[in-house]
Amino acid sequence: MMEKTYKIAVMPGDGTGPEVIAEGLKVLGAAQKKFGFKLETAPFDFGGERYKRTGETLPDAAIEELRRFDAIYLGAIGHPDVKPGILEKGILLKARFALDQYINLRPVKLYPGVETPLKNKGPEDIDFVVVRENSQDIYTGMGGLMHEGTPHEVATQTAVYTRFGVDRCLKYAFELTSKRHARSPWRGLSAKDKAEGKTGQLTLCGKTNVLTYIYGLWERAFHAMGPQYPEIKREYAHVDATTMWFVKNPEWFDVIVTGNLFGDIITDLGAMIQGGMGVAAGGNINPEQGGVSMFEPIGGSAPKYTGLGVINPIAAICAGALMMETLGETAAAAAIEEAVKNVIATKLKSLAAGKMGYSTGQVGDLIAERV
Ligand code: IPM
Ligand code: MN
Repeated sequence: MMEKTYKIAVMPGDGTGPEVIAEGLKVLGAAQKKFGFKLETAPFDFGGERYKRTGETLPDAAIEELRRFDAIYLGAIGHPDVKPGILEKGILLKARFALDQYINLRPVKLYPGVETPLKNKGPEDIDFVVVRENSQDIYTGMGGLMHEGTPHEVATQTAVYTRFGVDRCLKYAFELTSKRHARSPWRGLSAKDKAEGKTGQLTLCGKTNVLTYIYGLWERAFHAMGPQYPEIKREYAHVDATTMWFVKNPEWFDVIVTGNLFGDIITDLGAMIQGGMGVAAGGNINPEQGGVSMFEPIGGSAPKYTGLGVINPIAAICAGALMMETLGETAAAAAIEEAVKNVIATKLKSLAAGKMGYSTGQVGDLIAERV
């Protein structure tokens, strides 16, 4: 049998990005041997250093090149010498928009043995997924500035949503919820829900009490699509209340679907309750046929830890697992997750940088061995 080959563009980026991506590739290397697929990697050096050297962020020609890959594996973008916004917009957001990665998928899962700042909450309480719209909202850059730097300056930045863009995001979220519970129904359902044949729950997180136009559109689209998925219980939560419940009752959430800006904000809180940036991974997904998706640890480039071998590579390793899952290598993804869980539970002292009891490379070794 011919083994399946995946072409992966590797973009380690800035700061600790290269260190964590090296460990991710180590673990993926172990997985490909075991599960009989092959990764063909090609390096791309886009990031702060290259920008300082050449003034280039992510040129159009590079986007065209990236389209030929099956996925992109990204470390971190952000450089202390570069003004905030340039690399973020020029590389990260450019890739998301140009490759139409309209879903930002961010699982929030507390692994056994990981410390959460939430009192009396454990792995059975913190296990949900945020589906963040990734192509619209205030991120489109619509708006402008007038009389800059004067007492009369005016600034606008408009949140833009199209029904098409909202529908495709909702469809992804409904499908994901449905797939997630094809075998085991979500634990939070009531007896009545179960009697009605519900197996999972999708919560729309919005702000229908103030952002009546945009979240009004989301809400109409949500309930219009819902009947196609009779097995999914629909819930709604305002974004401010959502942050409260993440802390107070995270067990109420199964899958959450939300806009780009709200999704950005609530997933940093999500990362904290799952044990911090050391474990939080995400995928920028283009679910269409032939779409090129990009996987990354959510945390930044952590300049102060750069080159010390102390940064936790687990988020990058989990991003690698999410990549393999999205590419269809579900057994490999599951094996990586199990290995991560095992190393966290039996080896690591903490998930914080410099406090793991092992170096970045040793954590990668431990996980690779177990895969
Ligand atoms: C994220 C980041 C980005 C975002 C920034 C760096 C542009 O915060 O991926 O969550 O706002 O989406
Ligand atoms: Mn963010």
